[in-house]
Amino acid sequence: MAAADVLKPSEMKPHTLTGHVGFDSLPDQLVNKSVCQGFCFNILCLGETGIGKSTLMDTLFNTHFDSTPSTHDLPGVKLKANTYELQESNVRLKLTVVDSVAFGDQINKEETWKPIVDYIDAQFTAYLHEELMIKRSLFNYHDTRIHTCLYFIAPTGHSLKALDLVTMKKLDSKVNIIPVIAKADTITKAELHKFKAKIMSELMTNGVQIYQFPTDDETVAEINATMNSHIPFAVVGSDDEVKIANKMVKARQYPWGTVQVENENHCDFVKLREMLIRTNMEDLRETTHKRHFELFRRHRLEEMGFSDSESKSNSGYIPVSLSETYELKRQQHLSELQKREEEMRQTFVIRVKEKEAELKEAEKELHARFDALKKQHGEEKKKIDDSKKKLEDEMNAFQQKKATIASQSATLGKKKK
Ligand code: GTP
Ligand code: MG
Repeated sequence: MAAADVLKPSEMKPHTLTGHVGFDSLPDQLVNKSVCQGFCFNILCLGETGIGKSTLMDTLFNTHFDSTPSTHDLPGVKLKANTYELQESNVRLKLTVVDSVAFGDQINKEETWKPIVDYIDAQFTAYLHEELMIKRSLFNYHDTRIHTCLYFIAPTGHSLKALDLVTMKKLDSKVNIIPVIAKADTITKAELHKFKAKIMSELMTNGVQIYQFPTDDETVAEINATMNSHIPFAVVGSDDEVKIANKMVKARQYPWGTVQVENENHCDFVKLREMLIRTNMEDLRETTHKRHFELFRRHRLEEMGFSDSESKSNSGYIPVSLSETYELKRQQHLSELQKREEEMRQTFVIRVKEKEAELKEAEKELHARFDALKKQHGEEKKKIDDSKKKLEDEMNAFQQKKATIASQSATLGKKKK
């Protein structure tokens, strides 16, 4: 369809139906289809070794994921992803938990954020790659983009570490960050209150954007607004269950008492679960796609030379359409190749000339040496010839002398007789 044929929204007229048609079932159709397809959700757990990442994941999903304690002595941070198929009622969830290994264990922490950013970008790149394919299958594509990053803050009661601020700042435009205070049972109520305020003020001063639960949908606006004021959630995780009031509950037992994970007077675990899983999981997925991936996609396509509007660059006008951009890129690539080919050819010619000159020089030297040897050989031959001649002369003279002496002695013998 030509651009002029595109229907403008203003041209659409409202129209009343005279009877039931049935497209009011569209939302149900959508729900059924989504349920049938299943969902996927990917969580990145970022926090220092042994801070309680795996235990919190087990507690959140009420299961026991396979996890082994990480080593402290890796030279750099690594990310380890595990995908699980979960089912609740008839809803299937493909959950990927990406764990940071050896986060914060290095003496030089300058590049700690890099493998994490690289991992997130790699998932975006894979999705973009699929999206740009001619035969794309986004329908059954295993989306590995990180929907949320649970950032585990150590319960120091003091302030954020430089590593926390730098890492969160590097990630905040790429992923929905939900900061949590880990092992919150180790901090007193009064300290926690101050700690939360300190964390929030430090995040704000350093311009770190964390995920805010959305307040534009009125069904969840109130609860989300309230919960936004409780961030960062102070969480406690546990794999152990304790019987309290005839009910088995997740808890941590100490000599002085029991911390119940799901007791809102003890910690914010329930708030986190409510916000992360029960209320905003879809928003986290949507924000990942519409905000973070969109930003990544825009930057990546701009880097590749695509643009929505014709704009002037040093090399002329940048075209709008994909095919024009592709053609322009192809031409640029070809001319770059030709340039490099020409450069290589010239380098080759120069090298050949240099080699030729070197060979000529060597040949000249060889000739000179040959001439010198020939001359030396001639002189030596002449000397030998001279000596030979002299020797022959001497031999002839000797022979003559010998013959003369022989004839003289013969004559002398005859005379005596
Ligand atoms: P790595 O994967 O090895 O980096 O550790 P992790 O961050 O997954 O920690 P993990 O869940 O393995 O817990 C480490 C230790 O902390 C275990 O002994 C847990 O029992 C304990 N732990 C976990 N959560 C809490 C918590 O909320 N409070 C307290 N006090 N201890 C906890
Ligand atoms: Mg772990």
